[in-house]
Amino acid sequence: MTRHFLRDDDLSPAEQAEVLALAAELKASPFAQRPLEGPRGVGVIFDKNSTRTRFSFEMGIAQLGGHAVVVDGTTTQLGRDETIEDTGRVLSRFVDAIVWRTFGQDRLEAMASTATVPVINALSDTFHPCQVLADLQTIIERKGPPAGLAMTYLGDGANNMAHSLALGGVTAGMHVTISAPTGFEPAAEVLEAVRARAEQAGGSVRVVADPATAVAGADVLVTDTWTSMGQETDGKDRKGPFRPYQINDELLAQADPGAIVLHCLPAHRGEEITDAVIDGPASVVIDEAENRLHAQKALLVWLLRQ
Ligand code: CP
Ligand code: NVA
Repeated sequence: MTRHFLRDDDLSPAEQAEVLALAAELKASPFAQRPLEGPRGVGVIFDKNSTRTRFSFEMGIAQLGGHAVVVDGTTTQLGRDETIEDTGRVLSRFVDAIVWRTFGQDRLEAMASTATVPVINALSDTFHPCQVLADLQTIIERKGPPAGLAMTYLGDGANNMAHSLALGGVTAGMHVTISAPTGFEPAAEVLEAVRARAEQAGGSVRVVADPATAVAGADVLVTDTWTSMGQETDGKDRKGPFRPYQINDELLAQADPGAIVLHCLPAHRGEEITDAVIDGPASVVIDEAENRLHAQKALLVWLLRQ
């Protein structure tokens, strides 16, 4: 059975730990593993904008000895209605893995249904699991083993980052709090999966509307844009309801004194996070961005071994 990474719970807790250990090894010795030597290829398709994901996958694949075919999805025949299923069948004859940033999670599932090589979610509307591997690597570097740590995410609780932090966080045994305004809570079916995984892995999840309550005692604070890609014209008022969820000095002071602050970037400074916090001593956002490279290389190496 081909293994895919479409959502955070596609790796068991033990498998996630293996990938994170490998990520740390590859950070220390970037050229130690060359499973794509040949070169073997990886297809990297973007249906949405990207800076970090594009650079980290393309460079990571090169460092593993392979070749990345990086394309804008609209310029492929997918943009002219070739089926996702046929695309999965065909690309599997050319490349050893398919990395795809797209809209609906169902599109990734359709690709994985026919691809005979691993399909990796490089961000969908529902999940951003590669980002959360990098986030966990960053948390481990700063705070040690993640199991038992308290992580609070503030902002849009229904977006890809909230969902993946909850699912990936409990997989690592973390206690995850999602703090979001009414109407922006995590999707019920995702919360159900998070609770099931938490039970298995020893973590927990809660949804807390009040930001001060949510951050009390937190070891890790995380936020993300209030308006995700694709939501720019949905007509929802976000600035008003989201304002109390901004990570600023006052909110940070209510977390654990040693708390670190993560943001997957790009940041909207002055909205979800202030300049003082993102540029301040608690912020680890640039290390977090770098870890995309190491975590994704580890994921590729691990998937290609299965
Ligand atoms: N964090 C992240 O995925 O960044 P990009 O959109 O720049 O790839
Ligand atoms: N939630 C954001 C993440 C960007 C990396 C978005 O989907 O736009």
